[in-house]
Amino acid sequence: MQRIFSGIQPSGIPTLGNYLGAIRNWVPLQADHECIYCVVDLHAITQWQEPSLLARQTRELAASLMACGIDPVGQILFLQSLVPEHAELAWIFNCVARLGWLNRMTQFKDKAGKDRENASAGLYVYPNLMAADILAYHATRVPVGDDQRQHLELANDIAQKFNHDFGADFFPAIEPLILGPAARVMSLRDGTKKMSKSDTSDQSRINLNDSAAAIAQKIRRARTDPEPLPGEPAGLEGRPEARNLVGIYAALADTDEAGVLSQHGGKGFAAFKEDLAGLLIATIGPIAAETGRLLADPAHVDGVLRGGAERAKRIAGPIVAEAKRLVGFLAA
Ligand code: TYM
Repeated sequence: MQRIFSGIQPSGIPTLGNYLGAIRNWVPLQADHECIYCVVDLHAITQWQEPSLLARQTRELAASLMACGIDPVGQILFLQSLVPEHAELAWIFNCVARLGWLNRMTQFKDKAGKDRENASAGLYVYPNLMAADILAYHATRVPVGDDQRQHLELANDIAQKFNHDFGADFFPAIEPLILGPAARVMSLRDGTKKMSKSDTSDQSRINLNDSAAAIAQKIRRARTDPEPLPGEPAGLEGRPEARNLVGIYAALADTDEAGVLSQHGGKGFAAFKEDLAGLLIATIGPIAAETGRLLADPAHVDGVLRGGAERAKRIAGPIVAEAKRLVGFLAA
C-alpha cells in the first residue's frame, strides 16, 4: 500500500481553497492508502503568529479536518512540532538543497513581498522543511493544491541529491496528486490572486466556519464580469472570475467545467450565484456544525494530535536515524 503525506498550516481558519484544493481530496484516499496528515505549526511560524492564537488555531484546524472526514483512528492526524524528526531532517536538507534552487521558489517571492530583507530565514528554507515532512515517512504520494507543485519538485531534487551525495538509494520519488477542477481556487475579489487565509480582505474568501448568511453574501458580492456564462469552457478564456466560480461549482457538484456550462450556459451571474451559494451552504454548513461539536471537547482534539504524533514518530524515528547514519553521524 502506498503511503500518503500532506500538511496544512494552522495560520488561520481553513478556506474553501484549502478544502477544494486539498482536504476534500485527502478523504477518499483513506480508503486505499496509508495516510499521514499533519498540522504544520513549524511552517506557520515562518510568518508572525500571535502565540495565544496559534494554539487555538491549531486545535480548531484539527477539529475542522476531522469534521471534513479525516479519520484519526484508521489513519494518522498529528501536530508537526511534537515530532522533532521533522526539524532534524530539515536541517540535513538545509545542507543538501542549493541556494540557487531556493532562489527560484515563487511562493517565497510572493510571501516575502517587497520587503524581502525583512522576511524570516525560516520562510526562505521552508521548502526544505516540507521535503523533510514527506521524506521522513518515505511517503510517495502527496495530495496538494496547485500552488505546492514547485515545492514538490524541489523535494524530489533534494531526495535525488541526498541519494547521490551519500551513495544510497534511500529516499523514494514523490508523486504530486493535484486533483479536481478546483486545484487553484482564486480570490472572490480578484480572479488573478489565490484565495488565501492571510488575505487582509475577509470578502476575498469563504472560511470553513462561515455562516450560511456570510456565504450567501460573499458569493453575491463576488466580482464577475457583465457577460452571461458561456456555453463551453473555451468561452471562459480571459474571464478569470467567471472561471473561478465555475471551477468551484464543478468541484462541489462533482463534475467539470463543461458539465457546469452545459447546465448553466447563457444564464446571468445572479441566478448562477444563487445556485452556487446553495451548494456551498449545503457543503460547509455541516462541516462548521461538526467542528463546533468537536471543539466542545478540546482535550479530545488535543489528545488526537498527541496520540497521532506518537504513532508518526514510530515511523519517522527509524527513517531519520538511518538518514543520520548515512550522513556519517555517530549513532546514539
Ligand atoms: P497551506 O496551509 O497553504 O494549504 C494547505 C493545502 O491547501 C491548498 N491550497 C489551495 N488549493 C487550491 N486553491 C487555493 N486557493 C489553495 N490555498 C491552499 C495547498 O495547496 C495545500 O495543499 N506548504 C504547505 C503545507 C505543507 C505540506 C507539507 C503539504 C507543509 N508540509 C508536506 C504537503 C506535504 C502549505 O503551506 O499549505
